[in-house]
Amino acid sequence: MAFPGTGKIWMNGKLVDWKDATVHIGTHALHYGSAVFEGARCYKTPRGSACFRLDEHMRRLQHSMKIYRMEYPLDSTGWRDAVLDTIRANEMRSCYIRPLVFRGYETLGVNPLAVPVNAAIMLWDWGTYLGQDALERGVDVKVATWSRMAPNTLPAMAKSAANYANSALIKMEAVTDGYAEGIALDVHGNVSEGSGQNLFLVRDGVIHTPPIGSSILGGITRDAVITIARDLGFPVVETVLPREILYVADEVFFVGTAVEVTPIRSVDKITVGNGLRGPVTEAIQRRFFDVINGEARDDHGWLTYVYPGEKHSPAPVDVAGTAAGRGR
Ligand SMILES: Cc1ncc(COP(=O)(O)O)c(C=O)c1O
Repeated sequence: MAFPGTGKIWMNGKLVDWKDATVHIGTHALHYGSAVFEGARCYKTPRGSACFRLDEHMRRLQHSMKIYRMEYPLDSTGWRDAVLDTIRANEMRSCYIRPLVFRGYETLGVNPLAVPVNAAIMLWDWGTYLGQDALERGVDVKVATWSRMAPNTLPAMAKSAANYANSALIKMEAVTDGYAEGIALDVHGNVSEGSGQNLFLVRDGVIHTPPIGSSILGGITRDAVITIARDLGFPVVETVLPREILYVADEVFFVGTAVEVTPIRSVDKITVGNGLRGPVTEAIQRRFFDVINGEARDDHGWLTYVYPGEKHSPAPVDVAGTAAGRGR
């Protein structure tokens, strides 16, 4: 989706015009991938605009920075306020939120420690990542020939720009071969995750997802989906998953800020279950959308309302079982 090219971008504490949010060609991050970032969403709910799990996203950003020895003079409250200020300055009701922390302009030695750390927050409109149809009918995916990063090479727990070179290889291969997405295995040949989303499968009534040690990004949606699934009474296990379980699972689905909860209807041209969105996927998807749309009670405190003037009384009752309204 092309950028609108207007509005304000937060750069090192100042709101600047979109066209002025630029960096020098000698910026370290451009050459060496020395950047970490976040991807979060703000939703328009009937109770006002609300960011989904903003504090958890900013916590993960700080953890990514810590892994890469990056320091920036903002604490958790500072990060949250900077995001909220940027949304308000742009008068956005719903948006995708991209905080970025990067090594800037000083020298181009491989050692980044002497290079100053800069930060920016960019917002834009971003609808459903794989299309509205995908949410209902599911997507066709392939297992990538590229593996996820090996342990102790590039840290998968850090959401670093460098890791997205691997994601791009997985995604390019999938779309070039006519699939919507790729699933990467880890270097041991076990299921890891998609190019930019975590993976769940259902088999005999039990929900499975690869553990953090399978070279995945610890997704915030993944965590929410585990919580939702347990709230709905489904058993969930985090366990190492062999590739072939993808072919014999009853249901498989992706989760993430971009894809939200998206069913997978085939893997390597083998139909998953009966090829339709399965009942467990549908129940989790429905509850997820009800929460982010402010239609279900926010029992876990996942929503941060953006505009103080807006009415945001709690949703009245638990609405499990109602239709998944998008209502963005
Ligand atoms: C590689 C990768 N895995 C998983 C996810 C899902 O994480 P989250 O739910 O926090 O967006 C993302 C998206 O950020 C990702 O890029």
